[in-house]
Amino acid sequence: MQNGSMSIQVNAINKFYGSNQVLHNVNFICEAGDTLVLLGPSGAGKSSLLRVLNLLEVPDSGQLTISNESFDFSNPISEKKGLALRKKVGMVFQQYNLWPHMSVLDNLIEAPIKVAGMSKAEAKEEALKILTTLQLADKVDAWPLQLSGGQQQRVAIARALMMKPDVLLFDEPTAALDPEITSQIVTIIKELSKTGITQVIVTHEVDFAKKIASHLLYLEKGHVVEYGDNSSFTHPKSKAFADYLNH
Ligand SMILES: Nc1ncnc2c1ncn2[C@@H]1O[C@H](COP(=O)(O)OP(=O)(O)OP(=O)(O)O)[C@@H](O)[C@H]1O
Ligand SMILES: [Mg+2]
Repeated sequence: MQNGSMSIQVNAINKFYGSNQVLHNVNFICEAGDTLVLLGPSGAGKSSLLRVLNLLEVPDSGQLTISNESFDFSNPISEKKGLALRKKVGMVFQQYNLWPHMSVLDNLIEAPIKVAGMSKAEAKEEALKILTTLQLADKVDAWPLQLSGGQQQRVAIARALMMKPDVLLFDEPTAALDPEITSQIVTIIKELSKTGITQVIVTHEVDFAKKIASHLLYLEKGHVVEYGDNSSFTHPKSKAFADYLNH
């Protein structure tokens, strides 16, 4: 992690599904510790763009630099490089994706032990530290299905943090959560930002977005229509984004 330095650079990204172009010449940059919110109508390409950032989707052209790894999509990307990247760029999904047959602790320590080669003792110690920070220490032996939606979401964040990511990606992290739990997620995202983790967050909730965003990118039909810092919420540069905020 490097404070104050470039963390993500996206350059001229184009992505097609068959003949359907879903990302058109997308460009943006994030510095370490930035929180970039991706907004836009359904089908605008937000999830597709997010998935490009950890190579779950490979674009058809353009360049990506993330967490000190550079990719030029005019060349094939090796599976090995993709795996290496996903250790440093974590993803938190809307449907938490916890393993239901594993305790909270085992959900957390599985990847660090198997993928990152951490010892079991070290992984357990780290898991307890992170669970304590997220006020989940008493849930260490619980099963995912015994937890509320908000608790499951925090466990999913804890699990992503176990890999000590430089970048954390969230796809609609508050979609199934009530307002009180959403405000806990706001607090967690702000705390993570202070540690220098760069976060990219897809959401439909404008109030949530305003609270967390250092920067925002507004997409329509795969085109970047607005890109700016948090002041774009109060002073939109484009009519399209102003209209989106007003509807
Ligand atoms: N795996 C896929 N195969 C083919 N088309 C896809 C695939 N994933 C997404 N698309 C298409 O790409 C476009 C962008 O989808 P994407 O999921 O990125 O939108 P989104 O902005 O995240 O929408 P939502 O707000 O509904 O989640 C849509 O037209 C969608 O139908
Ligand atoms: Mg989506």
